[in-house]
Amino acid sequence: MPAQRIALIGFSGSGKSLVGRMLAQKIGWASFDTDREIERNEGISVPSIFAERGEDEFRKLESAAVAAACSRTRVVISTGGGVPLATENRRHLLGCYIVLLDAPASALHRRLAQSAIDRPLLRSEDPETRIRTLKEERTPFYDIADLWVDTAGRTPNEVADEIRHEWRTASQHALADPAREDRVTSRPERRAAAAGTADKAQPGQG
Ligand code: S3P
Repeated sequence: MPAQRIALIGFSGSGKSLVGRMLAQKIGWASFDTDREIERNEGISVPSIFAERGEDEFRKLESAAVAAACSRTRVVISTGGGVPLATENRRHLLGCYIVLLDAPASALHRRLAQSAIDRPLLRSEDPETRIRTLKEERTPFYDIADLWVDTAGRTPNEVADEIRHEWRTASQHALADPAREDRVTSRPERRAAAAGTADKAQPGQG
């Protein structure tokens, strides 16, 4: 049987929310967007949570939303771009067929410039460089994905079709891979452990 949950991870602007909704519709499942869930529960926007309560508080709410999403079945989960950075979140994601949506920084920048959603972490005089730097830092944490999909030059509908195909044909096998559990420990954490400095491993040390 194919996986009973699909989680979309990736940088802001990679299309997780739109592709997630389309994919859920194609499969006949529910869709769950962690940012929208937080906003619904808290009654304020994600940028307001960052501004009024700080990023740490946002990350706690985010982890609770990820845990709630991953306790459901027959659901496509669109995650915020920072979700795979926390070990706790990666552990929850392991119960899903995990799909990374990727695109070059230039394409992400173009899409984000047209987006109405404010991303507090991307506010910068030079957003494209900020995107490139943050994306490089995060790439080791995106390794948790079972499937990597390049979205550049493709419509959300084409991307959703590819994921549906791979989910049908490959997700059962992917979730049965015994080496999968090892991916919860990120590359920086593995490197730190090998160097005997496991306690110093921090998200962002790509
Ligand atoms: C964030 C990405 C945003 C949102 C918040 C933090 C991040 O979601 O969760 O602004 O850390 O990259 P999107 O990936 O949907 O933009």
